[in-house]
Amino acid sequence: MHSPTNQTSMQTCRWHGYATVAELERAAAQVILRAASLAIRQRGSFHIVLAGGTTPGNVYDLLRKADADWAAWHVYFGDERSRPADHPERNSRMAEHIWLDAVDIPRKQIHPIPAEHGAEIAANNYAQAINGIELFDLVLLGLGEDGHTASLFPDHEWGEASDAPAVLAVHDAPKPPSDRVSLSAQRLSAARQVMFLVTGETKRQAVKDWHNGINIPATAIDPPNGVDVYIEAKLL
Ligand code: 6PG
Repeated sequence: MHSPTNQTSMQTCRWHGYATVAELERAAAQVILRAASLAIRQRGSFHIVLAGGTTPGNVYDLLRKADADWAAWHVYFGDERSRPADHPERNSRMAEHIWLDAVDIPRKQIHPIPAEHGAEIAANNYAQAINGIELFDLVLLGLGEDGHTASLFPDHEWGEASDAPAVLAVHDAPKPPSDRVSLSAQRLSAARQVMFLVTGETKRQAVKDWHNGINIPATAIDPPNGVDVYIEAKLL
């Protein structure tokens, strides 16, 4: 089930509503696998940025079970919490435990954000690590209850300007932990495809604000081809 496109600020946003979370997760996994096949066919590699939080967990589990040309996948993260690398709250650890440790993506092609070294050092290091990638093939993002995405929060710097840093050190984040590292809005927008995954009643107000053109951080993600929001239909 789809609903019409809406335009907030400059962002083109296509809403894809699903009756159940399971249907949404299956559809999202298929979109990712198709995007990977196309990128690998066209350019020999697939560069994907993963979302943190809990929403993508089942999608990552579906990817774990999929048959893909893993040797051509390159995995990055949209944000990370300033926690030790093996801390249960780390976004990279969630993806590794559910999916990445179980498939044959070469370890040198999986790029966690080194947030364990502190936000500023990690932001500088990661900006260098992704410097050679002009466009990510696919960026996965979640949506917070306050409209945040990655670790771009209301009343904080989002890095929208074209000359904004690629990676931001985030402090005083309202969602613990307070210290984080995030790709900036302009860097997350440098992508061929951006997919938001939105499920759960707690996101209703943020979705309503988004639809009403309120400038939540999610609206700052403005890639050339627009964004696709995979969402529970009941939230539309
Ligand atoms: C994080 C995420 C964050 C997340 C949203 C949604 O580090 O927490 O990057 O942006 O995607 O807060 O979180 P849930 O998927 O857990 O609802």
